[in-house]
Amino acid sequence: MYVLGIETTCDETAAAVVVDGKKILSNVITSQSDFHQKFGGVFPEQSSRQHVELLIPVIEQALSQASLSHQQLNLISVAKGPGLMGPLLIGLNAAKALALAWGLPFIGVNHVEAHLYAALMSTEEWIFPALGIVLSGGHTFMVLMHSVGHYELIGTTVDDAIGEAFDKVAHFLGLGYPGGPAIESLAKQGDSARYDFKAGQVKGKPLYFSFSGLKTNVLYTVKGQNQNKASASILDHSEKAHVAASFQYTAFMDIIHKSLQAYHNFGCKAIYVGGGVSNSQTLRQLFKKEAKNIPIFWPDPGLSLDNAAMIAGLGYQKYLKAGGGDPFSLQPMTRIPIHSS
Ligand code: KG4
Ligand code: ZN
Repeated sequence: MYVLGIETTCDETAAAVVVDGKKILSNVITSQSDFHQKFGGVFPEQSSRQHVELLIPVIEQALSQASLSHQQLNLISVAKGPGLMGPLLIGLNAAKALALAWGLPFIGVNHVEAHLYAALMSTEEWIFPALGIVLSGGHTFMVLMHSVGHYELIGTTVDDAIGEAFDKVAHFLGLGYPGGPAIESLAKQGDSARYDFKAGQVKGKPLYFSFSGLKTNVLYTVKGQNQNKASASILDHSEKAHVAASFQYTAFMDIIHKSLQAYHNFGCKAIYVGGGVSNSQTLRQLFKKEAKNIPIFWPDPGLSLDNAAMIAGLGYQKYLKAGGGDPFSLQPMTRIPIHSS
């Protein structure tokens, strides 16, 4: 089955063609991050306008890179949420319009579930039950995966998502948006043991995350005690590198320790990690070191950050399972709990 995927949940306009849920024929991504860098984050209204301009050319490019005409497609899969309402409406309405014009079924999938599916796309055989971990700009959670579409939530963040914490700390350090890659690169010049930062622990919920205290601790270290986000930094470049390295190490080790605890508690046989933060080579190396004999799977290059290949791949699985597509009455959802995907 040839599936066209469409992704417009946030600031990436993306389209891809994937065969039978795994084989990627094209994966086109146009990021608006240069524009949003000026605002230190995503600016929703502008994001919607850019999706309107970019979506059709991006879809045309995805088809031409796959050397396909729309007559050869079998299904359109689109991210129906979670995300920003304006951008979601544009992607979903485009999918509906193309499905109507081309006489194809269409299906809406959960963007966050697709981040997990991106890790499943990297391997031939799937191992269940598994621990699924999503680490992105908007979400941070762990699920027990019984199969594609059958998840039990076992831990999530009570405040900031991990990617959001990276973006905010990067802002304190005077680095650009998105912050994760900037912190990873600055941290290479720093010593991760220089600052004794601590990630939050949630009372009575050992598998839950909290990054807001850690973030405030970094803020005071960079700007001085009781200062605010607008204050000037009191640190020089090399000291900032130590802060970046120590913050990154603390946040990642918290995630790794909780993941390993969950893995053992729930009798998992493998770990699948997805979401933008899973792009970090530092995280991958630390995980490998700590989780020695555990089979752990990551998205292939180009599939960690927002993309439409994961949307097309998951759409194929959902279509097979449901035995059909969605009705035209399907509406975008700014929030979708993972266990009801
Ligand atoms: O999954 P994603 O592309 O978008 C959402 O669905 O949120 O994730 C984007 C997030 C951003 O917060 C970005 O800073 C973070 O992923 N990120 C990283 C790295 N690369 C991207 N965080 C830490 N280290 C990285 N190398
Ligand atoms: Zn995402």
